[in-house]
Amino acid sequence: MSDWTIGIIGGSGLYAIDALEDAQWIPIQSPWGQPSDEVLCGTIGHVRVRFLPRHGRGHRIAPSTINARANIDALKRAGCTDILAISAVGSLSEELAPGRFVTVDQFIDNTKGRPSTFFGDGFVTHVSMADPVCPRLAKHAAKAVTGAGGECTEGATYLAMEGPQFSTRAESRLYRHWGAEVIGMTGMPEARLAREAELPYALLAMVTDYDCWREEGEAVDLAQVVEQMEQNSKLARKAVEAFCKGLPRKRSPSPIDHALDDAVITATEQHD
Ligand code: ADE
Repeated sequence: MSDWTIGIIGGSGLYAIDALEDAQWIPIQSPWGQPSDEVLCGTIGHVRVRFLPRHGRGHRIAPSTINARANIDALKRAGCTDILAISAVGSLSEELAPGRFVTVDQFIDNTKGRPSTFFGDGFVTHVSMADPVCPRLAKHAAKAVTGAGGECTEGATYLAMEGPQFSTRAESRLYRHWGAEVIGMTGMPEARLAREAELPYALLAMVTDYDCWREEGEAVDLAQVVEQMEQNSKLARKAVEAFCKGLPRKRSPSPIDHALDDAVITATEQHD
């Protein structure tokens, strides 16, 4: 076995990974509450894998109520060294057609009121989010998609919206003006929390629809999203397998392993 332990967070349509050997669902307790599900632990080739379905098996949990703190904490406790998150997204760009996979390199967080830090109770921590994604993992993910027979665009800006409703046309056009290229409901605060947990994180986004910004386009059609999601999930499973098998046996350290070393941390005063 190598020294990688990869946490995979599965998005809509991805609730298990067939390529996992010696797979076992294991409950992991977190002081941050209930993770979305048990964690499917096993191996792919030389890599230990810990898989967590973000919405729970059977898609029970809505985006706004996902306990991202418990999920990231559970993966950290399960020994993960790195996280590859996978999410269904809408496209805000003509070039990113349904069926395309995209590695995210930036986020705009437009979610509302989700718990988004592990800190703040006792001491305050400001960690850098300038480069929110691990470039090494993102590169491996893009290579894995093409190796699995898909097309992958590298580097897109992800707009995280609250949902659960899809956007209005005016919102969708606004997000394009902001420079967002894909839109989803779950990438934040997950990416922030991974950074606070010093876990290198990459997000592989699978385009299911064109959202609703196009003049001639239909509004988001749920049936189309679900059908595209099923096709995307088949490719995602193959890509996860190729991702793990393509990792070098030796994991060289990442600067993100020590992200908090450079954070601004202040103890808050105790008042009794
Ligand atoms: N997930 C998949 N398609 C989406 C869209 N158009 N907006 C937000 N989240 C999505």
